[in-house]
Amino acid sequence: MRNLLLFQLILPVLGQLALPDPPFLPPNASSGAQTTSGDPNPQWTTLLGNLIYFYDEQRSGNLSSTNNRVPWRNSSALDDGKDVGLDLSGGYYDAGDYIKATFPLSFTLMSICWGATDYGKGYDMANQTAYLDSMLRWGLDWLMKAHSSPTTLYVLVGDANVDDAYWGGDQNIPTPRLSYAINDTSPGTDAAAGASAAFAACAALYSNRSFNGSYSSPASLLNDTYAQTLLTHGQQLYTFAVNATGGQKTYQTSVPEVAAAYGSSSFGDELTIAALFLAWANASAQYYQEAQHYFQQYQLSGQNSVFNWDSKTPGIYVLFAQIAQSSAGLGGNLTSWQAECERYFDAIVNNDGPAFLTSDGLLYYNGDSDDATLNPALNAAMLLTRYAPMASTSDKKASYVKFAQSQLDYVLGDNSMSVPYIVGSNPNSPSNPHSAMASGGDDIGNIDTSPPQEAYVLYGAVVGGPDKYDRFYDIRSDWPETEVALDYNGPMITLAAMHVLNDTSDPFFTSLQAGAYAKVRPAGEPCDAAITAGCGGPTLSKGGLIAMAVILSVVGAVILGLLIWYLWTHIRK
Ligand SMILES: *[C@@H]1O[C@H](CO)[C@@H](O)[C@H](O)[C@H]1NC(C)=O
Ligand SMILES: *[C@@H]1O[C@H](CO)[C@@H](O)[C@H](O)[C@H]1NC(C)=O
Ligand SMILES: *[C@@H]1O[C@H](CO)[C@@H](O)[C@H](O)[C@H]1NC(C)=O
Ligand SMILES: *[C@@H]1O[C@H](CO)[C@@H](O)[C@H](O)[C@H]1NC(C)=O
Ligand SMILES: *[C@@H]1O[C@H](CO)[C@@H](O)[C@H](O)[C@H]1NC(C)=O
Ligand SMILES: *[C@@H]1O[C@H](CO)[C@@H](O)[C@H](O)[C@H]1NC(C)=O
Ligand SMILES: *[C@@H]1O[C@H](CO)[C@@H](O)[C@H](O)[C@H]1NC(C)=O
Ligand SMILES: *[C@@H]1O[C@H](CO)[C@@H](O)[C@H](O)[C@H]1NC(C)=O
Ligand SMILES: *[C@@H]1O[C@H](CO)[C@@H](O)[C@H](O)[C@H]1NC(C)=O
Ligand SMILES: *[C@@H]1O[C@H](CO)[C@@H](O)[C@H](O)[C@H]1NC(C)=O
Ligand SMILES: *[C@@H]1O[C@H](CO)[C@@H](O)[C@H](O)[C@H]1NC(C)=O
Ligand SMILES: *[C@@H]1O[C@H](CO)[C@@H](O)[C@H](O)[C@H]1NC(C)=O
Repeated sequence: MRNLLLFQLILPVLGQLALPDPPFLPPNASSGAQTTSGDPNPQWTTLLGNLIYFYDEQRSGNLSSTNNRVPWRNSSALDDGKDVGLDLSGGYYDAGDYIKATFPLSFTLMSICWGATDYGKGYDMANQTAYLDSMLRWGLDWLMKAHSSPTTLYVLVGDANVDDAYWGGDQNIPTPRLSYAINDTSPGTDAAAGASAAFAACAALYSNRSFNGSYSSPASLLNDTYAQTLLTHGQQLYTFAVNATGGQKTYQTSVPEVAAAYGSSSFGDELTIAALFLAWANASAQYYQEAQHYFQQYQLSGQNSVFNWDSKTPGIYVLFAQIAQSSAGLGGNLTSWQAECERYFDAIVNNDGPAFLTSDGLLYYNGDSDDATLNPALNAAMLLTRYAPMASTSDKKASYVKFAQSQLDYVLGDNSMSVPYIVGSNPNSPSNPHSAMASGGDDIGNIDTSPPQEAYVLYGAVVGGPDKYDRFYDIRSDWPETEVALDYNGPMITLAAMHVLNDTSDPFFTSLQAGAYAKVRPAGEPCDAAITAGCGGPTLSKGGLIAMAVILSVVGAVILGLLIWYLWTHIRK
């Protein structure tokens, strides 16, 4: 089987960089306990490889032997789009379930392309550029299919209600899987602009654009044909976002089915970042002026929000600063963008709110961190790392680098659980990620114990993370702590690429003792949106419906069983 895989991987996939032969495959987690040295550092290059491999594990569609590195994954959902007469097969499953969600996918692609533009050399040094290309194209080529006309964008494939009631492998995914779109009369400004930003950011990457010559895009990605195709999609989607006949509105207004998992809170940030990435990719003062216009219209200055799939404003500050530094001709003022960035970052590193630090030192935003503690912290670390070299004083630069490192170290095991929160990276890594695919189970009533051990190691997956008291339980059904998602890996990939090129010391986890987590594993059960034993009521949010559906169906089945038993035993008397 393995030999077959190696042989077939030699065949190139049309249009994309040739993949290494033999392929990169994640090593056994025990290798993450070895201390290493070298430039590049082998632990960092492996970690970058594992983080990209996660996206291979999440692939939907036709996994032919030429493109599939994951021995336990099969082709699936090949009929996606047939309900609307289109081929919408391909792309990525969003998280631990089987929906395909365009809005968070767009954010993830935008984030990874932007990061590769800054730290492309890190991918080159790790021999991961071909996998980056393959990963991006698997997402972007699907996004092009989803953008099936200038004013049509499919925003969701897979019926949430059907999908939430399913726990099992990739061979029996329930159908029908319906396809939902925004269009000219029922638009979605945020989803259209978010996809536009992804296309524009990736067009810049495939054009070998760079903000700072010393850390450019991987030159081997240069492909003007592909870049122009991406740019055209980005430009059309931006026009659709701005000028749809149906006006400007959040996409769940038009497609209510997306609201449960990925409803959007506003669209001013997406309009701004789309215009800004288009300005950068297309070297266009017109788009730049529109970005400035939206930034003012939606009063994005002075905010202290998180950076995530729904909230792009902090990234806009940094991107404006990078463009002001590298493309003075577009009209930006570096000094004033530095001031905006540093206001935002100083509040974070000086603990001036709204976020606070957990007792182990994780950056925590009430609300945004509740269902995925690591994501806001990793996104902050990623933006701080990127911005630090541009800081106005060396003191600020040092404080940004130090804070970013503290968050990264926490995620990689510098926490009271001794857990590096990336699956398969170290013996202490989580072993029960909330992933229907990896679990190997199909008993929705017993996902924690059936099977006792997760069937497949979901290498490279960043999990949701511990609770606000730094406790981590490693329970499969506890989706806030153990679920995986496309957007969770995004900032970690960029950080890993940066560390490959600029850090010869090992990631924190090589210093952990094997078995350390087993000694400190918290007793009892978590208190969060999925498992509420011992605490107040649940608060449902992103992605949560899967686990709730599981719980509700279990509870429902128990009640139904009791009722049947009661009727059976009582009525016959
Ligand atoms: C550039 O990308 C296009 C579109 O995917 C592909 O057809 C072509 O082969 C690529 N060119 C090179 C030189 O890789
Ligand atoms: C990894 O290696 C350890 C120690 O050699 C072994 O016990 C374990 O089964 C291996 N895990 C996998 C997933 O191969
Ligand atoms: C899957 O891809 C392979 C290789 O590209 C191709 O030969 C095969 O026909 C495809 N299968 C389907 C169902 O599209
Ligand atoms: C990258 O590939 C080169 C050439 O095959 C090899 O010498 C080097 O060790 C590889 N580096 C990594 C990190 O895999
Ligand atoms: C893929 O198919 C194989 C063979 O039927 C099966 O053992 C495996 O569990 C499947 N993978 C998933 C993720 O369901
Ligand atoms: C536009 O989308 C709405 C909502 O999904 C749908 O009801 C309508 O039929 C679509 N219009 C066209 C022309 O496809
Ligand atoms: C890519 O960009 C870098 C940095 O701007 C430049 O040095 C290099 O020559 C470019 N490569 C190609 C193939 O254009
Ligand atoms: C929106 O429509 C107006 C009026 O036709 C046009 O001037 C403008 O360029 C359009 N905006 C975009 C982004 O296409
Ligand atoms: C800007 O976009 C236009 C229209 O797609 C294209 O013709 C032009 O080549 C682009 N310029 C750059 C620098 O990308
Ligand atoms: C940039 O803005 C600062 C104030 O934030 C101002 O002092 C400076 O003159 C501006 N520079 C340019 C070139 O406009
Ligand atoms: C590389 O690391 C050094 C030391 O931490 C730092 O000063 C420098 O800014 C970093 N470079 C980049 C590109 O982040
Ligand atoms: C690029 O980054 C380096 C290292 O941080 C810095 O010294 C240099 O000034 C930057 N160059 C440009 C053109 O921004």
